[in-house]
Amino acid sequence: MSDEQKIEGTVATFLDGVPGPEGGLLRDSGRLLSWKYACGRVQVDVLSRDLEIPQKRQLDGTIYDGLLALDGVTDVIVNLVNPDTATDVQQQSPPPPKTAPPADGKGGGLPPKRPIPGVDRVLAVASGKGGVGKSTVAVNLAVALQKQGYRVGLLDADCYGPSIPLMLGIGEDDKPRITDDRRVQPVRKWDLDVMSIGFFVDRDSAVIWRGLMVTKALQQFFFDVAWDRLDYLVIDLPPGTGDTQLTMVQNIEVHGAIIVSTPQDVALADARKAIAMFRETNVPIIGLIENMSYFACPHCGERTEIFAHGGAHRTADELNTPFLGEVPLALSLRETSDAGTPLLAGDDTSAVHEALSGIADAVAERLPVRKEAPARTPSDA
Ligand SMILES: Nc1ncnc2c1ncn2[C@@H]1O[C@H](COP(=O)(O)OP(=O)(O)OP(=O)(O)O)[C@@H](O)[C@H]1O
Ligand SMILES: [Mg+2]
Repeated sequence: MSDEQKIEGTVATFLDGVPGPEGGLLRDSGRLLSWKYACGRVQVDVLSRDLEIPQKRQLDGTIYDGLLALDGVTDVIVNLVNPDTATDVQQQSPPPPKTAPPADGKGGGLPPKRPIPGVDRVLAVASGKGGVGKSTVAVNLAVALQKQGYRVGLLDADCYGPSIPLMLGIGEDDKPRITDDRRVQPVRKWDLDVMSIGFFVDRDSAVIWRGLMVTKALQQFFFDVAWDRLDYLVIDLPPGTGDTQLTMVQNIEVHGAIIVSTPQDVALADARKAIAMFRETNVPIIGLIENMSYFACPHCGERTEIFAHGGAHRTADELNTPFLGEVPLALSLRETSDAGTPLLAGDDTSAVHEALSGIADAVAERLPVRKEAPARTPSDA
């Protein structure tokens, strides 16, 4: 028996044992419509008619997680099919494989990457480790570029912990509208066009999202949002190199990635992995930012390097990647983020303000828009 046949056998055995959503076994419920296995990829079609959303999520999760845990399985697609509705969780195009695509960046046999309609430049803000300040940088970078006269959108791609609505002070009542051509209109705040999963789900349900749903939501954010003549779309990613990053790099053209790290070795080690992933998928690295680089005491001015200092610059040099600048730890940055009033929307001349504007300048210089940046007019606001 070949290895492939063995894997197929373990898939069959696993599927035989999956419990049905209404008791008994899935295989006896008539809901297991079909499945196929080839080259590490399993695709399972399940009839989801008359199931409640929690039942669908559980079923989807059981199959997806169980299959992915099997030796030899690298990629799982679970299609929940309901012929009665068009709104079920059903893939229009294959989701990304769990493995990185080939280094040619063309995604092998996957659908080709597409530009996002209405967007000139796509800029991803990423990190290996969580909590290093991606969203803070993404928000302030977007505001800084907007203040330079560019039309800027901000896409919160963190389905598990969307923080952009809070950081921009977008309230519960600011919901996206549906346009006449059935696309989603971004929310306007701070002269930015903003989209976030946080506009659609409450925090508790966002944390139980799984790969397949994230993929689907992101595809809609890329292609079904009415992005309007943007010069830059800044994408705030969750940490790591998981489903979100893979969905992004395989579906859309990303023109540049910015990697945020603190100076600690543990964060830098993860930043290297993020850089490696973007390189493997042919996304240009715009540069590395060292956040929380040092703390300057507001009383005596003494400088303390809480998480060490300079590691991101060294790492950037080692990896032959531009270093975009360092952002100090600053109470004002934390406070303005929490208050929903981005620091760069104000006019102070603090070190942190200057650091972030300098980074925005460097980004615009390294990734210029392809056409002349239009000046904003009041009718655009
Ligand atoms: N330079 C800084 N000075 C002070 N506080 C900061 C700084 N950078 C980020 N913070 C604060 O640290 C916290 C984490 O930042 P943020 O949410 O931007 O990180 P993240 O990388 O997006 O996190 P996650 O991985 O969860 O998405 C926030 O409370 C933010 O206000
Ligand atoms: Mg974040």
